[in-house]
Amino acid sequence: MIESLPVLAETAAPPLVIFLNTMTLLARYVHIICTTLLVGGTLFYEMVVPIAIADLKPEQQLAIFARARWVFRRIVWFSAVFLVLTGILSTTRHWRAYAQPEQAAVEHLREASRYTTQPVTQPAPPELSAAMRPGWWWVAHASTGAMAILIALSLTIGRTPPSNPVIWMRLNLVVLMIVIFLASATRHVRMAATEPEPPTAASSPEDGSVPA
Ligand code: HEM
Repeated sequence: MIESLPVLAETAAPPLVIFLNTMTLLARYVHIICTTLLVGGTLFYEMVVPIAIADLKPEQQLAIFARARWVFRRIVWFSAVFLVLTGILSTTRHWRAYAQPEQAAVEHLREASRYTTQPVTQPAPPELSAAMRPGWWWVAHASTGAMAILIALSLTIGRTPPSNPVIWMRLNLVVLMIVIFLASATRHVRMAATEPEPPTAASSPEDGSVPA
């Protein structure tokens, strides 16, 4: 660590890199906040409101349900817009990792070697199985995410709710849980595939290849 400090001082990040990293961080933060709003809003509208109004007269129930739907619509539209925008931003930022993970891994190793004075062997592209390709996980996350957003939007469009709204909400909650699992898998696989530990001369095989 101490050995690498002078190297770090010489290679301070340029302002553009700092700006892009800040935008990525903010996009990730907003993406997570909107996920919370969408999941929390759906859960509240589907589970809490019906129980809370169960003992009221039918006309009072309808009035409260309509108001709750009005608030839910705003939450859904707000989170849908920002989920898609920040999703596109994160996709752009990580596109190389999704489309060419082997190349991204080699670049990461090359970059890492700049920050150490330890001898680092020449990196070779790692062999990745289909499950270790972050691009497939991204496709699964983005497509189920888009589906969840469309279901949520369709529940709030129009003056009256669709027939069986509670069943649709329940279904969408399950889809949202799957979307969140696929998001964490995408992130995990992306980092595992494209940010491997740099092999040092002592730890790497004799042919200089990077262990998978
Ligand atoms: C068209 C819609 C969407 C697109 C294009 C999109 C795209 C992305 C991308 C590119 C990432 C970063 C994955 C990585 O680190 O490699 C991500 C993360 C994530 N997404 Fe989405 N997403 C979409 C919809 C959704 C929806 C509807 C939800 C809500 C359930 C959601 C929840 C998450 C979560 C929780 C993360 C993890 C954030 C993190 O740990 O950095 N996304 N999304």
